[in-house]
Amino acid sequence: MSTRPKTPAAGKLPLPELAQMKARGDKIVMITAYDAPAGRLADEAGVELILVGDSAAMVMLGHESTVPVTLDEMIFLTRAVTRGARRPLVVGDLPFGSYEISDEQAVGSAIRIVKEGGADVVKLEGAGRMVARVRAIAESNIGVMAHIGLTPQSATKLGGFKAQGRTADAALKLYDDALALQDAGAFAVVLEAVPTEVAERITAALEIPTVGIGAGAGCDGQVLVWHDMLGMYAGRAPRFVKQYAEVAEVIADAVGHYATDVRTGAFPEQQHTYAMPEDQLAEFDAALVERQQ
Ligand code: KIV
Repeated sequence: MSTRPKTPAAGKLPLPELAQMKARGDKIVMITAYDAPAGRLADEAGVELILVGDSAAMVMLGHESTVPVTLDEMIFLTRAVTRGARRPLVVGDLPFGSYEISDEQAVGSAIRIVKEGGADVVKLEGAGRMVARVRAIAESNIGVMAHIGLTPQSATKLGGFKAQGRTADAALKLYDDALALQDAGAFAVVLEAVPTEVAERITAALEIPTVGIGAGAGCDGQVLVWHDMLGMYAGRAPRFVKQYAEVAEVIADAVGHYATDVRTGAFPEQQHTYAMPEDQLAEFDAALVERQQ
């Protein structure tokens, strides 16, 4: 049973603030996180949204795609992030297989991510039949973020991790999908890997904010994956990633340095050890001598 209070934590960003930011032209910042320290650091950096993304399957759990991660694993990760993040809205990602079967399944999974994981809102991928899932979740009073364009859970069907909406027909479909998702009650739409012009037109047509990843600067906000932007992911980063640090190098250097210190005896030093009063040590040694007789 979750001990999370029903009312948002003190200082929690109110969900309607996102639409107000769009109206004011203030950009929305979203980043993924998968553990408590990352949640805390993202909060301290002042982001509005933290996505506990199913990208965890790849960047945290070592899978080749986002498909294998389970709802239980997502709840586990979400719970950790919500222990670290206070102000930002935490978005719990519904993993593949947790919402496709029926509206009831989608609402049940969303409730678990909110109740057990402590997420403030949820996200799911797709349009078409998924529009009804968005409506069902929104009507259950859970905020739901949509995600169209490149939807990694259906990468196989899309023919790989490829940009979407590059023909007039495909762009029009994305445009209609975005409007349908807004109509169904989504509070925001992630646009992944779509041409800048398409994202601009969708953003202009929607009242709810768009959050882009590989969708250009015209979106109302941007999202990046923690490991990609910090240079912590060993795989090939997509072209839309801007890397702000080389954390993997810093970690590898530090661990290598530590290993050398242990092997050479340079660590631990006096300052890393605990002392014992001399009289106690003498007593201890005397007791040992006695034991050995
Ligand atoms: O899972 C994730 O990290 C995502 C972002 C790429 C939007 O869905």
